Amino acid sequence: MAHKYGGPWSEVKLDAVEYYLQCYTNALTPKKMDIWYIDAYAGSGDREAEREIGGLLDGRALETVVEVLDGSARRALKISPPYKHFVFIEKDPKRAAQLASVKADYPGTAIEVLNGDANTELLNFIGKAPWTRKARSFSRGVVFLDPFSMQVDWSTLQALAATECLDVWYFFNVQAIIRQLSHNFEGVGNKEATLDRVLSRRWRDLYSIVPEEPSGQFDMFGGSADAVVKEPTSKRTITKDQIDKWFKTLLEEEFAFVSDPLPIVTPYGGHTFSLFLAVANKHPKATELAQKFVSYVNRKFAPKPASRRKSGR
Ligand SMILES: C[S@@+](CC[C@H](N)C(=O)[O-])C[C@H]1O[C@@H](n2cnc3c(N)ncnc32)[C@H](O)[C@@H]1O
Repeated sequence: MAHKYGGPWSEVKLDAVEYYLQCYTNALTPKKMDIWYIDAYAGSGDREAEREIGGLLDGRALETVVEVLDGSARRALKISPPYKHFVFIEKDPKRAAQLASVKADYPGTAIEVLNGDANTELLNFIGKAPWTRKARSFSRGVVFLDPFSMQVDWSTLQALAATECLDVWYFFNVQAIIRQLSHNFEGVGNKEATLDRVLSRRWRDLYSIVPEEPSGQFDMFGGSADAVVKEPTSKRTITKDQIDKWFKTLLEEEFAFVSDPLPIVTPYGGHTFSLFLAVANKHPKATELAQKFVSYVNRKFAPKPASRRKSGR
């Protein structure tokens, strides 16, 4: 049975990442690099989606059809020129078994399926060759972090950055973060541990930066040459966009390049997710190339104004 999750916005996310994966292999294959695709929250390989067809314009009754679409793992396997190695990590044993069965469709392709927690498995994986300093001169890869919610540890992002050779796509659930950050700092309570794990201890900054000239509006980023750290306030009234900007600066402390996030809009809260690209490779040619590709991605998949949007995208 295919894995049922998400909605039309999941296709936008997968289209965006696939577009980058294609640019990446087009660019690196001629350079004879050993390229890897690492899908750390890989699902089952397939995605079950519901779609409405018919209606007044089609002249027939509206009905909902169920389709089985390719998930991120199958999409990556179809890319040509192909990646040389695939690593799929999935915690759920049933989905991991389904992923393992995908191997039968790609005989001769180097596919490793790891059934476990992505944070633990990624640390084990990058602790070995070819990601160790001596062995990595010809190895490069893209890591896709596509959790449901707050399952990516900050320490995992730091470890990926330290490889200096992986590009990381992170589907950041900004809605889940804002839900954890209560308006009063004191109200965060036992959610502190989760926020520490996902955002590092630095999330407390979100409560302590205020504009120099009080404007009645808490605007920690707006302007910001003028923004200064004043005495901590216990109030948080920032927006999802502001959390994204802050998170981007946090990532920039670890990675050589971090893209502006691509907002992913859902019917359950508008801007719900933010898709970031973070590049670990410090070489200017690598960051320039990544910057060029992600600027296409962000333009091509930017949310459309409501009047131009089709089927909820
Ligand atoms: C949004 S789905 C991924 C969908 C997949 N990228 C696709 O396109 O089909 C998130 C997946 O992460 C898995 N997951 C949740 N927590 C995890 C963890 N700590 N480590 C690894 N996988 C996890 C879930 O079982 C689920 O299959």
